[in-house]
Amino acid sequence: MITQNTIDKVFEISRVEEVIGEFVQLKKAGSNFKGLSPFTDEKTPSFVVSPVKQIWKDFSTGKGGNAVSFLMEHEHYTYPEAIRWLAKKYNIEIEETQQSDEQKEQMNERESMFLVSKFAKDYFHDVLMNTQSGRAIGLSYFKERGFREETIEKFDLGYCKDEWDNFTNAALKKGYDLKYLKETGLTIVKEGGTSLRKFDRFKGRVMFPIHSMSGRILGFGGRILTNDKKAAKYLNSPESPIYHKSKILYGLYLAKKEIAKQDNCYLVEGYTDVISFHQAGVENVVASSGTALTPDQIRLINRLTKNITVLFDGDAAGIRASLRGIDLILEQGMNVKVVSFPEGEDPDSFARANSSAELKQYLNDKAQDFIEFKVSLLMKEAENDPVKKAGLIRDIVTSISKIPDGIQREVYVQECANIMDISEQVLASELAQLLNKGAGTRRANSGSAGPRPSVQERLASKGREGKGMELIKGRAGSRAQQKIDQVSILEKEILRILLLYGNELVDFENWVDAFDKHGRPILEKEEYQNTVSNELYLNLQEDEIEFSNELFRLTYYEMVSQMNQREKIVVDELIMHENTEIASLVTNILMDEEKYTLSSWERKEVFVTEIEKILPKLVTDAILNLRRVLIEKKIQGIMTEMQSGEVVPDLEEIGNYTDLKRLLFERLNRVI
Ligand code: CTP
Ligand code: MN
Repeated sequence: MITQNTIDKVFEISRVEEVIGEFVQLKKAGSNFKGLSPFTDEKTPSFVVSPVKQIWKDFSTGKGGNAVSFLMEHEHYTYPEAIRWLAKKYNIEIEETQQSDEQKEQMNERESMFLVSKFAKDYFHDVLMNTQSGRAIGLSYFKERGFREETIEKFDLGYCKDEWDNFTNAALKKGYDLKYLKETGLTIVKEGGTSLRKFDRFKGRVMFPIHSMSGRILGFGGRILTNDKKAAKYLNSPESPIYHKSKILYGLYLAKKEIAKQDNCYLVEGYTDVISFHQAGVENVVASSGTALTPDQIRLINRLTKNITVLFDGDAAGIRASLRGIDLILEQGMNVKVVSFPEGEDPDSFARANSSAELKQYLNDKAQDFIEFKVSLLMKEAENDPVKKAGLIRDIVTSISKIPDGIQREVYVQECANIMDISEQVLASELAQLLNKGAGTRRANSGSAGPRPSVQERLASKGREGKGMELIKGRAGSRAQQKIDQVSILEKEILRILLLYGNELVDFENWVDAFDKHGRPILEKEEYQNTVSNELYLNLQEDEIEFSNELFRLTYYEMVSQMNQREKIVVDELIMHENTEIASLVTNILMDEEKYTLSSWERKEVFVTEIEKILPKLVTDAILNLRRVLIEKKIQGIMTEMQSGEVVPDLEEIGNYTDLKRLLFERLNRVI
């Protein structure tokens, strides 16, 4: 592991403008630099680098961060890889925590296995292209499947001769150790009587090498050429220190650039699907190699894009079986679309039977949001069957509950309510119950943070406790949609204030109940000093307001923990936060500010003096506005319940909330 000391040094010495300057042509613009976005094909520059703040922002895609996050975005490095790159550029010696002898040995073992795998890849490819039997059997098979020679080169395809130990002998002759041939599974060793017998695992198969994200050979898939029903069609490398099936996506190495560029990843099942798509000019594609998708595999994609499109072969049974696996993708906060192919076709056969333009057209036209797809699919089965429909609601809500982002969950609740023709409230309260339950067990088991109910969802569940399920038509979603956006805008405003002015000491005032000298009750103005961050924190805590947006909440808690430990907010640390989403959110907020103030330096002057005067009001308004919107939502919720007709309206409750709302408005106006 790289030591914290080295990481600190790297951050201290690197200059974001120098690092980015190696990849993007930057021009000075005021105190900033500007350039063309490296993430899009734009014509006018919207990519800004601030040497003062040591951050960058791409206004065309919304991405932003520090030097490390740029390397992670642009070069698709991992965090340690980015640190290493910077250390090399700035001649910083990397200190690593001491490796034990055992660790060193493991490193060497893995290294040897990589070497023998690379040799195998080259050998199989050479056999395919340059030997008589390779060309006659392997190459002609690939050609028959429609693979062009440049594609065969691109994917390093190969052939293992149909002899017992042709490959093993070649490797041993080259000096490779039998130990590693055996550990990688390339050679099967059998102890028979007095001698060792050695066989090529992939005897008589065409070879698909499997690359790591950075292009090293991890293992192989080998396809049989006969129609022998007894032998497996594909044989894969066994699990080994370098080959972990659950952490590998076939084709990722060749797809990563295009996945990031298209901001979408097609997920298919098989090796040949990937290859045929490349031939058809669709390169943002990876394969799960026929097994159920794992969280590790999804994480690999998540580093490159938030969008996955899952492609289904055209058989209904397969689709149903895959539905559950897709919840895993939602769990990681990704957007999932699906495309299904006509009966009897897989992506490979479809890509070959159609032109490149037709394939792309099909992928665009047929892509459907996963939740919508699932709802429509299951609705067809549940039509006119109330019992099935109730089960279906649970099923859909389970999928929605996996989405970490509260706002997105609400949008889906609205959409699904529309499609299923039931009330939003029913879905929302189901969802809240699931989330409450999930949050409980999660905390008990591991303490890891999964989706937790937002305030709105908690309110929804409170209102509905113990009531039966009703299938009533819900109201149109657009009003509610506005509310959701309002909440998240207000939450973001609070973060903005914290980041920019959190450590400022400000004079606040408050109106408290008191008595005059005659003993009559009056409102008295109380003045006090507090830091902006403390004031916000205390108010939010008092109201038990939790941010509904997951990322905002995480970022907020990060600041709260800074306040607890160091009694101030340390913005630099947030910019360099290990969680790149937090880092990029913080950068974005700061950069938006930059854009605004830089547009006119005069305005900036005004801004600076004004801000001191208006800070107390800015803070109070932010809190009051958030309260107001949450209360409006609450009232809206009760109204909807009333419309459903099955609940006796609680007039007192509505009255209380309406009073509260009026009070808030008054206070908001008074401060103005
Ligand atoms: N697979 C496997 N072992 C098997 C069968 C399949 O590992 N015995 C994996 C392979 O990665 C394969 C994928 O599952 O690419 C999908 O299987 P399938 O659809 O049966 O094969 P295709 O990819 O369509 O291969 P082909 O077109 O060559 O039949
Ligand atoms: Mn196929």
